[in-house]
Amino acid sequence: MLSTVEKVLFLKSIDLFSQIPGEDLAQVALISTEETRETGEEIFAEGEAGDALYLVLDGLVRVHRQDRVIAELGERECFGEMALLDAAPRSATVTAVADAHLLKISREDFQEILNEKPEIASGIIKVLTRRLRSAIQ
Ligand code: CMP
Repeated sequence: MLSTVEKVLFLKSIDLFSQIPGEDLAQVALISTEETRETGEEIFAEGEAGDALYLVLDGLVRVHRQDRVIAELGERECFGEMALLDAAPRSATVTAVADAHLLKISREDFQEILNEKPEIASGIIKVLTRRLRSAIQ
């Protein structure tokens, strides 16, 4: 179980939250919850409603549509942000491919911090642009 300080240091190291001052990240740390998923466990399925955003503390998850692998995401990557941003169903299934330790932020909490700290939007743009570039290549 991580302390609030450890969560803040982790949040500061990821693109989504790197522009947010440490004291504000303490608030984000307090609303985030830790989850572990074993290898092979599905975290959510394509088509479901999106209720949370996830950050990978350690481990590896696979983003896939049935057998087609779209991406594998490891430490300091986020997933599940798209359904929170446009309220559409999950675009893909995400499954742990190595035991995964995750930080989860609920939809309501994420919307609230996004409204309060618009700097997070530039972190989101960075993440989405990186994924678009890698999809093009
Ligand atoms: P969401 O649509 O909520 O649920 C599936 C998630 O997979 C999606 O949010 C993104 O976080 C992630 N995802 C979808 N497409 C890609 C991609 N091309 N590269 C990396 N992650 C992706």
